[in-house]
Amino acid sequence: MNQLSHRLFLSFLILFGILIAVAVLARNVEYYFLPMEERPFHERYNDLKPSGIESHGYGIIGTAMVTIGVIMYSSRKRVRAFRQIGKIKYFLEFHIFLCLIGPVLVLYHTTFKFGGLVAVSFWSMSAVAFSGVLGRYLYQHIPKNIEGNELSAKELEEKGKMMLDSLHSTYALNEQAVKALRELGKPMAHIDEAGLFTLLWYLLISDLSQKRRIMLIKNTLNKYSVDKHSMKKVVAIVNDHIVFQQRIAVLEKVQEIFHYWHVIHLPFSIIMFVVLLVHVGVAITFGYTWIF
Ligand code: HEM
Ligand code: HEM
Repeated sequence: MNQLSHRLFLSFLILFGILIAVAVLARNVEYYFLPMEERPFHERYNDLKPSGIESHGYGIIGTAMVTIGVIMYSSRKRVRAFRQIGKIKYFLEFHIFLCLIGPVLVLYHTTFKFGGLVAVSFWSMSAVAFSGVLGRYLYQHIPKNIEGNELSAKELEEKGKMMLDSLHSTYALNEQAVKALRELGKPMAHIDEAGLFTLLWYLLISDLSQKRRIMLIKNTLNKYSVDKHSMKKVVAIVNDHIVFQQRIAVLEKVQEIFHYWHVIHLPFSIIMFVVLLVHVGVAITFGYTWIF
């Protein structure tokens, strides 16, 4: 898949997801806002109660989406035989799509009524989905190759060197210019010892200050004679190098936090699925088999 079709596909997924979430909400919002005791008198109560044809359907489809999302990503990541199937980053994107829309449908299934043991499954699912957003953010700060696999220490060093070498060899920048540009990318002092919130703040500021950084790079380059036609490419390389340097500076810390992040994401998924199994088992035993 080339970059353009990948972007189009991603945009389609995002639009499709938002459309489903908004359409269902708009269709049933009046019911969701009714006090519990008035719901049985609503004209669509039989369809919209959690065991009703519509809401029960949201539960089944939402659960299927989350289950498929987890199985697909986990098998691609862990089963050796599946490593050739496709880039892991595409699987992660699909995991995120299914596991964001799935919980929204499950939320509509509950009709915002969280009672009984199954509430444990619901809140575990919510913890997993919310923690996923933070995990995704940290994950994006771990340098990876084109396939989406983490780079080794040697590969990191080679990549950084290649970027700088190309400034010398392809764009003929002199030592002084490269040195000045490297200074721009110096990571904050002692950031490798920062706590969670300082680190997240640092990453966020670094991500949000792209425009300012590019302006600084251009100002620095203007002091040296850089060919006008190459300017755009040189700025892009230097910007990439600065971001890369900053990511390496915090890599160990990010990896450590990401490791702890699994402690929420993975075990809570297991709790969610275990309680869900009981919930589905009880539902089927009581004869709620939806359209089947
Ligand atoms: C993670 C997935 C799911 C969660 C978090 C969940 C959660 C809930 C919640 C909170 C309720 C309302 C309980 C109450 O009335 O207070 C409910 C009801 C119900 N759910 Fe689920 N559910 C999930 C998936 C499913 C699936 C896959 C089925 C399919 C068999 C299902 C079948 C039902 C039925 C039949 C009811 C109504 C029970 C009754 O009215 O007695 N649920 N669910
Ligand atoms: C109810 C929803 C979700 C469930 C049950 C779930 C479950 C899982 C599981 C079990 C894994 C581990 C796979 C493995 O290591 O074998 C995983 C990985 C991951 N999930 Fe989720 N997830 C959910 C939602 C999300 C969301 C909404 C996001 C992001 C917005 C997300 C981001 C991630 C990331 C970044 C990983 C990769 C971790 C790694 O490979 O080290 N997840 N998820």
